[in-house]
Amino acid sequence: MITETLLYTGKAKSLYTTENPDQLLCVFRNDTSAFDGEKIVQLARKGMVNNYFNAFIMQKLAQAGIPNHFEKLKNDTSSIVKRLKMIPVECVVRNFAAGSLCRRLGVEMGLELKPPTFEFFLKNDALHDPMINDSLIITFQWATQKDIDQMKAYALQVNTVLSELFLKAGLLLVDYKLEFGHYHNSLILGDEFSPDGCRIWDAKTKKVLDKDRFRKDMGDVVEAYEEVAQRLGIALPVMPVA
Ligand SMILES: Nc1ncnc2c1ncn2[C@@H]1O[C@H](COP(=O)(O)OP(=O)(O)O)[C@@H](O)[C@H]1O
Ligand SMILES: [Mg+2]
Repeated sequence: MITETLLYTGKAKSLYTTENPDQLLCVFRNDTSAFDGEKIVQLARKGMVNNYFNAFIMQKLAQAGIPNHFEKLKNDTSSIVKRLKMIPVECVVRNFAAGSLCRRLGVEMGLELKPPTFEFFLKNDALHDPMINDSLIITFQWATQKDIDQMKAYALQVNTVLSELFLKAGLLLVDYKLEFGHYHNSLILGDEFSPDGCRIWDAKTKKVLDKDRFRKDMGDVVEAYEEVAQRLGIALPVMPVA
């Protein structure tokens, strides 16, 4: 019996239905994109690394009381997740200035942000994910005020848990993007947490260990993701080098 039907293919993951209407199969692909999908390349092992990375982080967050969609690993490149009705906004938390914040505000890269900042962006590649705010979210009914408050609270709780986890491994969690959705009546964290959607620097050398290596053509992209995984204690299966 075929129970898995492709529901949606995004830039990095594909979602399939399962025999359980409340669950989806989330397949992490090797596709790596930047600049709102303008630059797309296949990077060997990336899907596998991100699948294990995401599983590890989501389980840490669940243990810390932050509800999320992760259920279990299915195989090297896919996981079973709760089926959510996604809120079409991205929540970005920053501990150090980098990327678009530097371009928009003219601040120096690496400036420590105290307290950390929180931003909303609309998930819309055609519009290049424009920055939005609470007022726009309410007016256009992308989410309710209750959802907004909950997303901000969870996003900052995530920061407390993960900044410490990364620092213990000698890593700085520079910034990250989260997506939330509704599971029945509760709002929970969805999508993924991987080096595709955050910035991670070595705490001492400031070596870039995230998708900026791909955006800036620095090379050794997946090798950097694997270094982070290894330093966090994430066990990755040994795969033959393609
Ligand atoms: N648990 C979930 N239930 C339903 N949709 C989800 C869930 N987790 C993530 N998604 C959605 O899956 C889609 C595929 O992910 P991705 O490839 O990262 O897409 P995108 O190109 O939009 O970034 C995204 O639209 C994301 O919001
Ligand atoms: Mg995505």
